[in-house]
Amino acid sequence: MRKFLSLVTVIFAVVAFLAVTQNLSSAAIPQTKNKSAIASTYGLQCSKCHGEDGKGIESLQPPDFTSADWQKSKTDKQISDVIRNGAGIMPGYKSSLSAAKITQMVKYVRAFGPKAAKK
Ligand code: HEC
Repeated sequence: MRKFLSLVTVIFAVVAFLAVTQNLSSAAIPQTKNKSAIASTYGLQCSKCHGEDGKGIESLQPPDFTSADWQKSKTDKQISDVIRNGAGIMPGYKSSLSAAKITQMVKYVRAFGPKAAKK
């Protein structure tokens, strides 16, 4: 009976271990989830002026995010400040996007740049 109990304990431990490792491997999913969430935020909030392709709606004269020169001319801080506070006709997003979201958005804007364009 003792032996049987310890066997049960071992099986239990193995099952628990598997459950945890399964969870760990699915913990990698939020990464991609976040990515598509930020893409859809961009699609909803930003693309109407900056375009899905980051080049921008010409008549509004926003910067071309795909331009190497533009990417080089801005620091991450300058980009996040504009997203937070707005510029010209662009509204600020500090009350609608979390700080974490704004950080992701800076990366998203960076990803339009030619160096990051490796699809
Ligand atoms: C109503 C149109 C509009 C919307 C919506 C908009 N932008 Fe802009 N954005 C502009 C314009 C116009 C400029 C150029 C502003 C200027 O320099 O006067 C600009 C500038 C920028 C810049 C460049 C700042 C710089 O220093 O050159 C970034 C980065 C940016 N927008 C990101 C975003 C992001 C991210 C979103 C969505 C969360 C967004 N914008 C939403 C119109 C818009």
